[in-house]
Amino acid sequence: MSLHHLIDFPRLEFIGAPTPLEHLPRLSDHLGRDIFIKRDDVTPIAMGGNKLRKLEFLAADALRQGADMLVTAGAIQSNHVRQTAAVAAKLGLKCVALLENPINTHAENYLTNGNRLLLSLLDTEIIMVDALYDPQHQLNDAATRLEVQGFRPYVIPVGGSSALGALGYVECAQEIAHQSEGVIDIAAVVVASGSAGTHAGLAVGLEQLLPETELVGVTVSRKVADQLPKVQVLQQAVAKSLSLNASAAITLWDDYFAPGYGEPNEEGAAAIKLLARLEGILLDPVYTGKAMAALIDGIEQRRFRREGPIVFVHTGGAPALFAYHPSV
Ligand SMILES: Cc1ncc(COP(=O)(O)O)c(C=O)c1O
Repeated sequence: MSLHHLIDFPRLEFIGAPTPLEHLPRLSDHLGRDIFIKRDDVTPIAMGGNKLRKLEFLAADALRQGADMLVTAGAIQSNHVRQTAAVAAKLGLKCVALLENPINTHAENYLTNGNRLLLSLLDTEIIMVDALYDPQHQLNDAATRLEVQGFRPYVIPVGGSSALGALGYVECAQEIAHQSEGVIDIAAVVVASGSAGTHAGLAVGLEQLLPETELVGVTVSRKVADQLPKVQVLQQAVAKSLSLNASAAITLWDDYFAPGYGEPNEEGAAAIKLLARLEGILLDPVYTGKAMAALIDGIEQRRFRREGPIVFVHTGGAPALFAYHPSV
């Protein structure tokens, strides 16, 4: 089965081919369970990551609307803003970003290195804000001001997580289903759940294509009570845009992000070291390190519904390692 509905949406080709689905033999030996990794960290533009799948749809919409500028928002170390800025550069558009310092740090590396350094290289116009307390509203205000100056801005929501952007992760679910067909019976897929588009898109796609596979979203900033409605609203919106029904229950684990968004913890740091040392794969301190810590703990605590191989969706983020070093 395939989700032909996706081809009805205009899109730009940034990724070109399915990202690899690889077995991790040394990590699998270490954990006593077969672990596979979906390499969305190696998508082709400006150090890769999950946002490029969303931007294939969002940037196509921006061009269709005649935009000359992409406007978005995130943390100083946002991977999403970096990928948006790179796509803007590739398309000859300007990029304006509202940035906040969510951990109130003065650490030099956080303020100037990692993704922030790349934003400067990509010629992003930065507007620092005290906090992104209502990002959509703040983005719309910024867009109005830019219009007055004569620009044609296109607003991309935080994390690219609209129903349109999340289509990129329906596509990723389709790739996982094709790549595993007849080869692995995937018991569970584990992914970091932040602005929720990645999780919601995978939920819609996997429900259609691999309904027996458990999807676990690991929260990076919120407790379940706050994250669940965000994922569900997007899940329903994505399904509706594809004329599908979505009734799969959303699973969220919120035990792994403490002390808070963008603040590393010991288990995440240990997971980053483990993957680096066993597999030569780089995770990040904000999203994928914590999600991998959840996968490891989930095996130890027998939290997964069934036995069998687990797929970890590597959503990228390694440039932030240079912002957090040496505290990771
Ligand atoms: C590396 C990385 N992983 C995961 C996520 C979470 O994806 P989403 O915002 O779609 O939930 C992000 C988003 O910022 C990210 O940069």
